[in-house]
Amino acid sequence: MKILFYMPHADAAAWLNDFARALPEADLREWQPGDTAPADFAVVWRPPREMLAGRDDLRAIFNLGAGVDAILALEHAQPGTLPRNAQLIRLEDTGMAPQMAEYVAHAVLRYLRRFDEYQTLQNERRWQVLEPHPRETFTVGVLGLGVLGTHVAQAVAAFGVPVRGYSRSPRQIDGIQTFAGEAQFDAFLDGVKVLVNLLPHTPDTGDVLNARTFARLARGAYLINVARGGHLVEQDLLDALASGQLTAATLDVFREEPLPPDHPFWREPRITITPHVSALTLRAESVAQVAQKITALARGDTVGGVVNMERGY
Ligand code: NAP
Ligand code: GLV
Repeated sequence: MKILFYMPHADAAAWLNDFARALPEADLREWQPGDTAPADFAVVWRPPREMLAGRDDLRAIFNLGAGVDAILALEHAQPGTLPRNAQLIRLEDTGMAPQMAEYVAHAVLRYLRRFDEYQTLQNERRWQVLEPHPRETFTVGVLGLGVLGTHVAQAVAAFGVPVRGYSRSPRQIDGIQTFAGEAQFDAFLDGVKVLVNLLPHTPDTGDVLNARTFARLARGAYLINVARGGHLVEQDLLDALASGQLTAATLDVFREEPLPPDHPFWREPRITITPHVSALTLRAESVAQVAQKITALARGDTVGGVVNMERGY
């Protein structure tokens, strides 16, 4: 079987070497511009349009991340770009869930225990005890209860704060109060103190972090966006911070990445910025999962993680 690989800024030789060990019978190559030779599978992250367009021989495209929005954007920009019969398959966890749980738990605890404010006091050499936030009303609301959202919700619940979760279809998760569908969106938001976003970026979820959403949260709420920059209406966040409706935000993802040096978020001390690192793609785990799925597909079996093209995730 022939496998094409493309992952910008990665050590392609190391990836190909690991794939060669996991799939010794495969004929592997890194895609280069102009390569239109046949392939059965593509393993990609943010591929250019020309890599996939017209490749009707492909059986499956493996996305080296959880979010497939960049690949689906190619199709939206130019319908017919994606091979008609190829399944699009995303990574399922591959070590991202524990990383995401660490990131979100760290941010939630930082706000719960007011470490952000203690840092400011330290910078001013002020010794001052702050009134603790009441744990029982420090409600964390997780948007998206998929592979990552479910793990994050459960990890945060272990700290004894109330946790809610929101998904498209109804979910039942021990210790989490769950809400589903647009009809329950406002009930999910009402009174939430920390809003965590782990939705996929689709036509239904773009701009979901907006002024209306923020207005339903508890006064002085916090925002943690670890999904996609396109979920956030940036000016609405700045306005909510200015009005006090939001106290602070931790952002890992942005509409434009890298975040431009003159972007106002860099100058807002209540916004904590990280460069899209909350859950990195891990090579060993990802190679193992993709290789196992390629083997299963080659046998004629079905695999998990297949993207529903209608829903966009
Ligand atoms: P997933 O397993 O596909 O879960 C998506 C969840 O969102 C599901 O619970 C789904 O509901 C829900 N959802 C989708 N559309 C919805 C809508 N319109 N209304 C309500 N709920 C909706 O995805 P995942 O693996 O957890 O990953 C989530 C996202 O995290 C990815 O798409 C990616 O953008 C982001 N991510 C970011 C990083 C980073 O480093 N910053 C790393 C990895 C992933 P159902 O359960 O009903 O289907
Ligand atoms: C990273 O952002 C991913 O979607 O895996």
